[in-house]
Amino acid sequence: STITNPAAKQRVAQQIAQKVKDGDVLGVGSGSTVYMALFAIAERIKAEGLNILAIPTSLEITMFCAKLGIPLTTLFEHTPHWLFDGADEVDPNNWLIKGRGGAMFKEKLLIRSSPLNYIIVDDSKLVLKLGTNFPVPVEVYPQALLHVEEELKKVGAIDIKLRPAKGKDGPIVTENNNLILDCYFDDINDSLEQDIKAITGVIESGLFIGYDLQILTAENN
Ligand code: A5P
Repeated sequence: STITNPAAKQRVAQQIAQKVKDGDVLGVGSGSTVYMALFAIAERIKAEGLNILAIPTSLEITMFCAKLGIPLTTLFEHTPHWLFDGADEVDPNNWLIKGRGGAMFKEKLLIRSSPLNYIIVDDSKLVLKLGTNFPVPVEVYPQALLHVEEELKKVGAIDIKLRPAKGKDGPIVTENNNLILDCYFDDINDSLEQDIKAITGVIESGLFIGYDLQILTAENN
């Protein structure tokens, strides 16, 4: 993935690292900004001997935590005290589109499981209207694909693309063995997340509407 605005991402990553306290169980989202924050947290763990546990949202972040020596746990064993994650778009209501990395199901599950959630973005992610730069990704159980496509059109999808894999033929397969439909909407209203979720065969979407989130940008802090 391309890292846009690395200096701004680095500043919010440092702000996250400063919030870490000994004994914290952290929910860890995905993406390059999260990656930078983890790197800064690992430095504090080493320097200060902090005991931290991380609950990762993706294989890439699991592997990165292992490499940095940050101990991992799961939602079976722990609930996060707080969480940090990136986003692809943030609108003026703090509604989000996530899921460029395909990990939105676990990201949403962790945000739902965590009492305090920081979203770390550079200001290229701030949009007036969701859908400006990114489609809404929808994770779909493979054999439900045709049914879900039909139902997505009924809730307003004007274009739907099966997300292709990189480095192999055919579609991308998520960590949950599902497919991703990237969906384009003219209007993303406050019921769309629930309308999509109500379709049989939809695992989750990358829409986050009305969540209690703390948005950290390099610019507002
Ligand atoms: C992952 O599925 C997405 O939701 C990420 O949070 C998003 O793509 C942020 O990535 P960057 O921090 O690399 O911009």
